[in-house]
Order: sequence, then structure tokens, then C-alpha cells
Amino acid sequence: MADTLTGAEEQAVESAAHAARLDHVSKAFGGPGGRQLVLDDITLDVAPGEFVCLLGASGCGKSTLLNLVAGLDKPSAGSIATPGGRPALMFQEHALFPWLTAGKNIELALRLRGLPREERRPEAERLLSLVRLGGAYGKRVHELSGGMRQRVALARALAQDSRLLLMDEPFAALDAITRDVLHDELTRIWSETGLSVLFVTHNVREAVRLAERVVLLSSRPGRINREWRIGIPQPRRIEDAAVADLSVEITEELRGEIRRHGQH
Ligand SMILES: Nc1ncnc2c1ncn2[C@@H]1O[C@H](COP(=O)(O)OP(=O)(O)OP(=O)(O)O)[C@@H](O)[C@H]1O
Ligand SMILES: [Mg+2]
Repeated sequence: MADTLTGAEEQAVESAAHAARLDHVSKAFGGPGGRQLVLDDITLDVAPGEFVCLLGASGCGKSTLLNLVAGLDKPSAGSIATPGGRPALMFQEHALFPWLTAGKNIELALRLRGLPREERRPEAERLLSLVRLGGAYGKRVHELSGGMRQRVALARALAQDSRLLLMDEPFAALDAITRDVLHDELTRIWSETGLSVLFVTHNVREAVRLAERVVLLSSRPGRINREWRIGIPQPRRIEDAAVADLSVEITEELRGEIRRHGQH
């Protein structure tokens, strides 16, 4: 038997090793006159099933980085691999189609995934129950609260059946109580599904509440500044003393970073 791996085997080994791998990634915008380096030499792995929060000040390049991992844009240098296939992406704004019901928004994602027509409705209903919106199948977007819309958006992201979920400040526009509930739901869904999550936020407490690992980005250009492994057992509460203590430490670091760059 040959001791070299076939392409498919190599891919299987790769995808077992990490959900996303960023290798010396840089990104610049603009032409020669006004070239702006936004991300500089980012090397980061997300392990299968890992929950990583990327934390940084406004404008430091978090969304840029997530868009690169999603394949919506290309790095200027370095490489990005997502061996498990195309990641699902969830934005700050729900981006649901207002003329479709909650259920039909999810079914659209299922159709794009190639799920046969007769399986779409039961699967959409299963996903709505997973985000605890069992009765919302026939509701239109304007009939849903902000928190409910983000739940539908989460269900739609899950409908893509990706092994990697990219989330760009998905709860930033919600009130504190609704956000708290959605943190609990996301932690539950993450532990039930074994998904890998790369979650972007500028909210330190949110990062410490959710993540197994918090990666702090510096600004102008965005570089990896420091990272923390969060050993506090889940489910955590945002008001837990251990969450608060670590948040103070990370906030100090983030403040120092913002001061160094004279940012808002
Ligand atoms: N398509 C683009 N063309 C030119 N510049 C861009 C583009 N996208 C982002 N930028 C610039 O890159 C920098 C980082 O933007 P990005 O949106 O990634 O920041 P962010 O960390 O997500 O900020 P926020 O927390 O406010 O969402 C900003 O200076 C922005 O103006
Ligand atoms: Mg952003």
C-alpha cells in the first residue's frame, strides 16, 4: 500500500486539524497613492469545534478579516484555508428578505444548499425550534422583534450546514437582556452542534462570556496583539465574577491599544 495520502485523504486530515487557518494574512485597500494597510501579518488557527472571539476597537479590521475568511474578498498577501467548506456568515443586521416569512427565508438558504423541496419545510421548522422560535414559521420579518429577527438570521446561517460559523457583531444592536438570552442560546447551539465559531465583537464582556479563546487585534494596522484562553466553565453568565475580572484585564489592554493609536 502506498504511504502517501491521496488528495481526498489529505483534505480529510487538514479538516480534522483546523476549521480555519490564516497564514500571514495582510490586507491593504486603495491604490499606490492612498494605500491603507488594514490587516498586517495575521496568523490564526481555529480548531474544529472551537469558539474564538476576535476583539478589537472600531475600525481595526475585524469585518475585513471575517469577509476574507468568508471568501467575499481576497487577502493582499498570505493565505486562508477553510478545509470544511464554505463558512456561513451572520452580520450585525439580520439581512433577511422582508417580503418572505421567517420560514421562507430559511428555506431559501436550504434551496441554495440543494436540499430537495419536500425536505425544506420540516428542516426550516427544525431550525426555528433550535433557535426557540417554534411558532414563527409563517411570520413576516416586520412582525418580529429585533431579537427574534436575529434568531431567524441565526437559523438561516445554520441552514447552510457549514462547519464554521462566522459572526460579525450579530447582537450589537440588541438590548442587554435580549443579548444575554441570545448568548445563552448561542452557547447551547454551539455545544449541541459542535460547530466552530469565529465571532467578532468590540464588547469585551461579550467576548469573555462566549469564547474559549479571545484574540485581541491592535489597530492601524490590525495585528494580533495578545490572546487569552478562557477556562471559565460554560454556561457562563455575563455578570459572573470570573467573567468580570478577566474583562477588566482585557479592557485595560484594549484601552492601552486605543490610546497608542489615538482612536475614538
Ligand atoms: N472595501 C473597502 N475599501 C476601502 N477601505 C475599506 C474597505 N473595507 C474596509 N475598509 C477600511 O478598513 C478599515 C477597517 O474596517 P473594518 O470594517 O474591517 O473595521 P471593523 O474593525 O470591523 O470596525 P467596526 O468595529 O466599526 O465594525 C477601516 O479604516 C475601513 O475604512
Ligand atoms: Mg465591523
